[in-house]
Amino acid sequence: MAQFTLPKNSQVKKGKHFAAPAGAKSVRTFKVYRWNPDDGQNPRTDTYEVDTANCGPMVLDALLKIKNEIDPTLTLRRSCREGICGSCAMNIDGTNTLACTKAIEDCGKGEVPIYPLPHMPVVKDLVPDLTHFYAQYASIRPWLRTQSPAPTRERLQSKEDREKLDGLYECILCACCSTSCPSYWWNGDRYLGPAILLQAYRWIVDSRDEDTGSRLDDLEDPFKLYRCHTIMNCARTCPKGLNPAKAIGEIKQLMLARTM
Ligand code: SF4
Ligand code: SF4
Ligand code: FES
Repeated sequence: MAQFTLPKNSQVKKGKHFAAPAGAKSVRTFKVYRWNPDDGQNPRTDTYEVDTANCGPMVLDALLKIKNEIDPTLTLRRSCREGICGSCAMNIDGTNTLACTKAIEDCGKGEVPIYPLPHMPVVKDLVPDLTHFYAQYASIRPWLRTQSPAPTRERLQSKEDREKLDGLYECILCACCSTSCPSYWWNGDRYLGPAILLQAYRWIVDSRDEDTGSRLDDLEDPFKLYRCHTIMNCARTCPKGLNPAKAIGEIKQLMLARTM
């Protein structure tokens, strides 16, 4: 039987413990992944006891309290703090989600583990490197592509055609789905993954777009599209309640329809 050994520098060590302040009324413990590319050390998990009586209700509130009051070396990404920008995506309590919309009280009992999005290179601590993900997004050329002359005012769309974008336009490109997809873990260099394919479908199905044939041609590839095996992790984890697997299925249907 094959045996696998992790390289020594990839093993996650037990890190520091920051105890709750004296007199803390309601303590939750967060176990947070830490890695600093500059110190040559292994990754570690630091444990922070946070008094949630003096903290906002969301996991992002707890992380910012840690950064502001306990350990300023903690690095994380966030911007809107209301589920719009997608920048605070991370793995919380075993699930990819947004720290700003995940309530602390909805985490399981005991320590709350917090890691960066899985299977991505890490820039530092909770910040994944999304360079490849964004390059894949750019590769689908995600804008309205037209050939007809521009109208004097705007390209109109019927109410029914506009509704076809529901469940697609809400995607905030947080990457929670792609980084939960086993096919993307193993083939992410060539498989576009659920987030980018949902975005691709968003333009394919837009009645104003005039480049559908070429968009489908670009996806006609054994890896870019057909690595989805309908495992459905993507739909389960999406913090916006979207269903990328369904969008991928729709693209496959369109591929099939044009061969008949
Ligand atoms: S489909 Fe959902 S999980 Fe995937 S990138 Fe868009 S918002 Fe995030
Ligand atoms: S349904 Fe497809 S895209 Fe979604 S997690 Fe499964 S393999 Fe990945
Ligand atoms: S901070 Fe913008 S989605 Fe969480």
